[in-house]
Parts: sequence; structure tokens; C-alpha cells
Amino acid sequence: MNIKTLFNSIEKIGALRYSTASMKSTTPSVRFTHAYYAICVLVVEILLHTPTLFASAFGCPPPERLRRLLHATDSGEAPIILLPCCYDGLTARLVGLAGFNATFMTGFGVSGANGYPDTQLVSFNEMLSAANSVAEGLSSAALELVKYGEPDQTGPPVAIPCIADGDTGYGNAINVKRTVFGYARAGMAGMMIEDQVAPKRCGHVAGKSVVPFDEAMKRVQAACDARDEYEALFGKGTGPLILARTDSLITDGFEDAIQRCIRFREIGCDMTFLEAPQSVEQMEEYCRRVSGPKLANMLEYGSTPILPPAELQQMGYTMAAYPLTLLSASIKSMQESLDLIKEGKPTYDKILSFAETKNVVGFGKYAKEEERYKC
Ligand SMILES: *[C@@H]1O[C@H](CO)[C@@H](O)[C@H](O)[C@H]1NC(C)=O
Repeated sequence: MNIKTLFNSIEKIGALRYSTASMKSTTPSVRFTHAYYAICVLVVEILLHTPTLFASAFGCPPPERLRRLLHATDSGEAPIILLPCCYDGLTARLVGLAGFNATFMTGFGVSGANGYPDTQLVSFNEMLSAANSVAEGLSSAALELVKYGEPDQTGPPVAIPCIADGDTGYGNAINVKRTVFGYARAGMAGMMIEDQVAPKRCGHVAGKSVVPFDEAMKRVQAACDARDEYEALFGKGTGPLILARTDSLITDGFEDAIQRCIRFREIGCDMTFLEAPQSVEQMEEYCRRVSGPKLANMLEYGSTPILPPAELQQMGYTMAAYPLTLLSASIKSMQESLDLIKEGKPTYDKILSFAETKNVVGFGKYAKEEERYKC
């Protein structure tokens, strides 16, 4: 919504036209009443449009919401976008309830939660099913945060946008396009596509290989085409933003990786991701030479230096992803709890109260909803 469309919509208000037309033929006091009425209508109209007027993210499709976040950060109006990565309904809920502005569905996490390493053993349909759970978790968190349907409701609910891990696209370029469509239908705001040879593996482990330069470009081209085709079919702002990732730094060198990112941008990807830079210098050079929004992957104990968010933003990064933190933290905590059970010791120090656990999974909200629809 910009000023021009605002005035267009004001122009459409019949009441306003009516009152200005009738002003010509009536007495001064009636004219005053009509003018007063017209001004009231104008003020109400401006108030109604205020949330969108000031570039807030209310009431738009997830990809458009993500686009606005990226723009706000890159124009210096907002801090770097923190993406604690989720992998199921519960972790998505936790990220949403904690008040983050966006999240990322990690393939490492989805694989891990299925009991597998991140070596593409889980199929597209399992990833899609996880994306659906993530979307549900994000919606339920948003509805809970604004106390939707309750007397002290604080504002319209806004489910935070999520970028889904599309790995290699699960096949050839046509599979890439189907993956984009599937994630879009699941409510994902963006999709990451990468240039590893399938089956891919985590970007910070040994044994990676990438497809040749031209094949990588075709993959990203297919993803961007699918984004545009989705938008053509379902409306402006609905096509998931494409995050193009290269893993070629380790296999083909830093210069090759930079060239791939530059070409991804020329093809039309919305964001890039140079995986596993090994020094601050490489991170800085990537930010200097590649245009557009960029993602830093803050994988603890991985091969990239872990830097504070403000420093990453200073360097030129738009987003900082934390791919393993939730998975790793929960594994640690579960292992410690298992040890206590094995030793026959009480577990109270390691866990939440029953009331807190119930609340996190949504019992509190459920009870209120039940009350709301009671006959
Ligand atoms: C969310 O965005 C707002 C507005 O830019 C910002 O002030 C806030 O710090 C962000 N929240 C987080 C957790 O990053």
C-alpha cells in the first residue's frame, strides 16, 4: 500500500463524493456537516490503512512478508534477521512464541528428528510433511501470541515467515519446480536450493561434491521459474523467495563459489548463501562482491567463525541462521535426562513443570478455544 493507492481507495468512497457534490447546492450549515463527515471518513480510511502504509508485514502472503523483512534489514531500518532453525511443529512453535521474526526449516533437523544423518535419506514427501507441521506450529504460535479471539486481543495475528530447506531439489530441474510448488502450498515463504550432487550432505562435513557450474545454474533457474509460475497462478507475492546456496568453496575453491553466487543473482535468485566460508576475510569478501540479501550460517563447532549478529550485519549479511542449536540443545538435555532415569534419580532439575509443558504444546490455548465455542 502506497500513498497513490491510498488516495485511489479514498476516491472510491461514495460518501465523500456525495458530500462534496451536495456542498454546491445547500445552505452553509448543511455544507459544514457534509464537509465534517467527509473529513471523518478520510481519517477513518487513513487509520484503516496505517498498518500497511508504514510497511508493516500484516496481511500479506508469507513470501511477501519475508521480502519486506529482507528489505527492512538491507535498508538499515531493522537489525539482521535471526533464524533459529526449526524442524517440526513443536520447534516452530517455540521459535514463534519466543518472538523471532522469521525461521528456517533445517534439513539437518528434519533428518535428525527422523533418526537419520543429514545425507538426504529422507525423501521430498517427508520434508514436505515437516514443512506442513512447521506451518501449523507457526500459525498456532501467532494466534496464541495475539490472544486471538480473546477480549484483550493485542492485534492481528502474524505467522512468521519460514524458509524451507529444499536441499538439491530431490531430482532434476523438474523435481526442483515441484519442490517449490509443494513448499509454497505448505505456506513456506522461501526455499533454499543448493548445488551439491544428490544425495547431498551437511555443508560442514567431509565428502561433499557439487554439480558442474552450468548444472547448478539450471537448478537455480528452475527454482526461480517455479517461483514466478506460482506467482502467476496464485497472485502477487505468493511465489516463495529463492535462496541459492553453493557448496563449491571446499571442492572448487573460493573464487568458483563467488562466481556461482554472482551468477545465481543474475539468474534472479532473491538471496544467496555461500556455505562454509572458513575465515572472516572470506565472509567479508563474499559480502563485498555479491549483491542482494545474504545468509550467514552460524553452525556451532562448524568450519565458519561464529560472530555476533551485529558484526555479521556490519559485514553485509541480512540473515543469520542457527541450524543446529535447537536440535543439539534438545539432544543434550534428553541425554542428561536419560542418564538420570537410568541412575534412578529424580529428573525435576532437568525439566519444566507439568503446567509449563502443557502450555508450550498448547493446552492453555485449547482450553480457551473450547470455552469460546461451547454451546
Ligand atoms: C524483530 O524485528 C523488530 C523490528 O525490526 C526488531 O526490533 C526486533 O529486534 C526483531 N526481533 C528479533 C528477535 O530479532
